Formats: sequence, C-alpha cells, structure tokens
Amino acid sequence: MAIEKVGVVGCGLMGSGIAQVCAQAGFATVVREVAPELVEKGLKGIEKNLGRLVEKGNLTEAQKSEIRGRLTGTTAIEDLMDCDVIVEAIIEQLPAKRELFAKLDGLCPASSIFASNTSSLTITEIATATKRPDRFVGLHFFNPVPVMKLVEVVRTIATNPEVYEEMVGFGARLGKTPVRAHDSTGFIVNRLLVPYLLDAIRALEEGVGSIEDVDNSMKLGCGHPMGPLTLLDFVGLDTTFYIANIMFEEFRERRFAPPPLLKRMVLAGWNGRKAGRGFYDYSDPAKPKAMKF
Ligand code: CAA
Repeated sequence: MAIEKVGVVGCGLMGSGIAQVCAQAGFATVVREVAPELVEKGLKGIEKNLGRLVEKGNLTEAQKSEIRGRLTGTTAIEDLMDCDVIVEAIIEQLPAKRELFAKLDGLCPASSIFASNTSSLTITEIATATKRPDRFVGLHFFNPVPVMKLVEVVRTIATNPEVYEEMVGFGARLGKTPVRAHDSTGFIVNRLLVPYLLDAIRALEEGVGSIEDVDNSMKLGCGHPMGPLTLLDFVGLDTTFYIANIMFEEFRERRFAPPPLLKRMVLAGWNGRKAGRGFYDYSDPAKPKAMKF
C-alpha cells in the first residue's frame, strides 16, 4: 500500500511535532484538534520551527512554503477519513483514546492503518476499541519530535506482520531511526529512562547531592545532553508521575514506584518547565535557578 496522506490527531507538543515531520517528509498531512484556537496555536508553533530552520539555512523559503502547503489544520474528524495512516497524540487517557479510535474505525476505509503515540498505555487495549487490531501499532516519538532521531514502533500480538513492517518503513521515511518493540508497558525507552529519573529524585531525597550536582554529574560524567532533574522538568513532572504509576501498576517493582517528593511536587503544581517551576525556577527561562527545599 502506498502511504500518501497522513492524519495526526492532537496538535499539542507531540502532535504538532509529528505533523511537522510528516509534512517535511513529503506526506499530505491533516492535523486535527478539538478547537480552532488549538489548531491555530499548533500550526503557529510549526511555522515558527520551520522559520528557524530557514534562518539557520537548513531550509529555503520555497521549501518552507511547500511543507506548509502540505499541512492542513481542522477540527472535523471527518477530514481524516481518506488518510492512509492516522497517528494519535491526544491526552494520555485510555477512554478518550478508545472513543477516538472507535469513531475513526467507523469513518476510515478498512485499509487505513492506525497508530498511537502513547508512552505508557497498552497498545492492545487501545487497538481493541476498533475492528482492526491487525492494522494497529504504537508509534512512540520523543520530545522535541523534530529533533529526536528515534521512533519506537510497537507491535501487539494482533498486529499483522506486513502492516508492522510497513510502519517500520514509515518511521524511516519520517527521517527517524525506527526501533522494534513489543507492547510491553513503557516499551524500551521508558522501561530504562523512568527508573533512572526516579532514582535521581531518590538520590536527591536521600541527600546524596544537590540538584545542580546530580544534573552536572550525569551531564558531564556521562555526556547526557541534560541532567535527569532538568530532563524531568522538560518532560513534565505530572507526565512522569503518570507514566511511573502505570508502570508500577504493571510490574509491581520498586524501581517504577514514584518517590514521595515527586508526588508532592505534582500535588503542588510544580510540574516543571511548562509550570514555571519544578526542580528549577524558570522565572527567567534563559537562566533556570535550582529550587531550595
Ligand atoms: N523544536 C524544534 N527544534 C528544537 C527544539 C524544539 N522544541 N528545541 C531545540 N531544538 C533544536 C534547536 O533549534 C537546535 O537546532 P540546531 O542544532 O540545528 O541549531 C538543536 O535542537 C539544539 O538546541 P539548542 O542548541 O537550543 O539546545 P540543546 O543543545 O540543549 O538541545 C535538546 C536541546 C535537543 C532538547 C537537548 O537538550 C536534548 O536532547 N535533551 C534531551 C531530550 C530528551 O531526552 N527527550 C526525550 C524525553 S522522553 C520522551 O519524550 C518520551 C516520553 O515518553 C516521556
């Protein structure tokens, strides 16, 4: 099957990034949000990113207009009905995802392939909301999507092997390196990343080192682009707390259990960079200051 048109559901941080890379890879791309102002906000973010690429000389103005021309925003789910592939990047709530895919299943031809960008929910449980679990995969991208080179391509026990290989190829056509993963909670990256991030919080709780020293250790000692506490602020403490709880529920192992400090920070609304405060204070976003607690 030739993939020509891609639908992306959700135009937030992840959805807009996915829509951008699809359009940049040459696919006609329709991105859907629930309200016109959210469509506009997402498309503006993409324009800004493309503009930066032009400024840096990585794109010409003509290429930018071509990419922008391949991209359509909509609030109507019906506008996705002729898409060959639909990638979902909406809120991480199982009922919302199941409801969305059940609706899409009724609208789209039997040939369309569905994918979820979920980071922690079970793909099988989302896929069974449709009559096509054989044409359903996980496509897990990383933030910031236009920059991070990886996509996890996740198969369930019901995924048709040919469909799966087609989606591995699709990930490569998006300019990403696809890795193959089973539908195991957290897939590969979060299976390894989440315990590491939670351990960094535990090290802080136990007074092993300060916020800056924990971060500098991993940045300078291991060559990571961000220290774990900076990365937690970047990913969102609420998001990490949510993923950790799902993983702990699944595996019942302490390494996935959210530490008390994480829970308290989420309760206080200190969710990281997007909230202006997490392990760092972002009052001056160019110069984050480590919090004292
Ligand atoms: N959108 C598009 N491009 C962006 C961007 C964004 N949001 N943020 C940065 N960039 C681009 C910059 O324009 C720059 O491009 P050039 O090299 O072409 O100039 C490049 O990325 C590097 O940016 P900066 O120089 O501003 O800053 P940096 O060197 O510190 O890099 C970073 C920023 C890419 C975010 C880097 O710090 C990094 O890789 N951090 C780790 C990110 C990470 O681990 N992400 C995965 C999180 S886990 C997840 O997403 C999954 C989950 O399920 C929780």
